[in-house]
Amino acid sequence: MTGPVVRVLVAFHSRRGHVETLAAEVAAAAGSVPGTEASLRHVSAVTRDELLGCDALVVGTPVHTGSMAAPVKQFFDDWHLRFDFYPDRPMRDRVGAAFAAGGQGDGGRELAMLGILSAMLHHHMLVVAGDSGIGASAATEGEAPGVAGADRERARALGRRVAEVAHRLRRGCDDQAGPLP
Ligand SMILES: Cc1cc2nc3c(=O)[nH]c(=O)nc-3n(C[C@H](O)[C@H](O)[C@H](O)COP(=O)(O)O)c2cc1C
Repeated sequence: MTGPVVRVLVAFHSRRGHVETLAAEVAAAAGSVPGTEASLRHVSAVTRDELLGCDALVVGTPVHTGSMAAPVKQFFDDWHLRFDFYPDRPMRDRVGAAFAAGGQGDGGRELAMLGILSAMLHHHMLVVAGDSGIGASAATEGEAPGVAGADRERARALGRRVAEVAHRLRRGCDDQAGPLP
């Protein structure tokens, strides 16, 4: 691997560990792509420099009352309030993606992930999904509580996809090769 190192930051909130489990899968899979450094952080610990130093950001949340949890919303609001990212939008053209855990199948996981992607789009990031339509998610309550093996695999697919797209963008930027194939 001779290309540039790509940095993937996985930022999450988790009260009971389900989102943290998904986050660990996302980060491990991203880090398995050659030339990628992946790091895991709670959203409250992410610094301005860590954001500006990453090529890709993947954000995970539990569903709380139908949408993203308050600490994750605070994280994005801080881009404006603490980090001074508006109006210049220095996260522009970095890769973004979302994952979530909710108790129920229809409890709001898609809305929570779309909220994260919407925040990223407001900052002109380039959002991607993994093997599924929006991001990776798990329903953690009901007949089979916890994070299922298939959910872990979708989280890994998301991590790999984010790292691969970030590498392609870096190569395109570095060698001025024009549009990606
Ligand atoms: C305050 C609160 C609100 C919740 N609201 C929802 C909800 O609206 N829909 C849903 O599917 N699950 C809801 N849940 C369940 C969590 O999303 C679910 O247990 C998730 O797996 C928690 O992730 P964590 O273990 O990473 O904290 C709620 C949990 C809490 C604590």
